[in-house]
Amino acid sequence: MQDNPFGSLDHKDLVSIADLSTADVLRVFATAEALKAGRDRYTGLLAGKRLGMIFEKESLRTRFTFDIGIQDLGGSAVFLDHSAMRLGSRESVPDMARNLDRWVHGIVARTYRHRAVTELARNSSVPVINGLSDFLHPCQALADFFTLTEHWGDVQGKTLAYVGDGNNTCHSLMHTAAKLGANITVCTPEGYEPNLKVMNESLEAAQESGSSVQTTNDPREAASSADAIYTDVWASMGQEDETEERAAVFSPYQVDAELMELTRNGLFMHCLPAHRGQEVTAGVIDGEQSIVFDIAENRLHVQKALMVLLMAKAPQPAGALV
Ligand code: CP
Ligand code: NVA
Repeated sequence: MQDNPFGSLDHKDLVSIADLSTADVLRVFATAEALKAGRDRYTGLLAGKRLGMIFEKESLRTRFTFDIGIQDLGGSAVFLDHSAMRLGSRESVPDMARNLDRWVHGIVARTYRHRAVTELARNSSVPVINGLSDFLHPCQALADFFTLTEHWGDVQGKTLAYVGDGNNTCHSLMHTAAKLGANITVCTPEGYEPNLKVMNESLEAAQESGSSVQTTNDPREAASSADAIYTDVWASMGQEDETEERAAVFSPYQVDAELMELTRNGLFMHCLPAHRGQEVTAGVIDGEQSIVFDIAENRLHVQKALMVLLMAKAPQPAGALV
């Protein structure tokens, strides 16, 4: 296996950005930058390492980028999807973790219940990476802020307005903004505000970094101080039966050209998949201010960095040859 010049994170897993220090986040970015610049220089960093991918929900970006990412680094992936099993139905999540522990060097999990990710992490000795739960989407937020650093040089003092549902993506953006000293204004309809625990964790981190975390129900107010506007789907995976009700509540929160006009020549961001004509107009997402596909590309580089920083030093499974 090629020597790892990038070091490791202080934490075994990536379940929540709240668990990481600012130095950890910056280490992920520095590693991602090096891996992106030298894609063919680091092809043996995870030689022989195996990644277990457990996905209870659909995915394009997360699945492709982890699978391609581990292959780029010399390793391989085994994928188990929702058609093969429901987490915790055939056997308990802790037992599943104790099995995987013997075969793989790292696990990526995309789950309905956030608790399933924390249980996997607690019951395995190998790193567990949260590939999206109903509560958090940390890999996404890291790629989002990595992309912003590419565009702006530094995100400190810049303001991101998140307009839409106070959901998993929103929560991880709040955590990451606060760690990095970026201001974040979260704008939701009444009743769809972000989780209180996330709010408090973010406020605490923002106090340390000198940034602000604010909430409002008024999209124009949020946009008027923003350097970038971010939105996500109005009904997340698992909320499909609320689609119609949410469409009515969220329609005043659509990101359109008029809202973008209020920003400081702001960038447009979305984790994708997007619904043109709902949370964002086609003109905005397909326009010049949109960086959505830069972000999608960077999912690859940031997750390769995460795998290197977590898996290079991970224990050897009892059932592994390498
Ligand atoms: N943004 C994101 O996580 O995309 P997928 O759901 O396609 O993985
Ligand atoms: N909030 C969305 C993000 C998809 C990447 C969902 O959970 O479906």
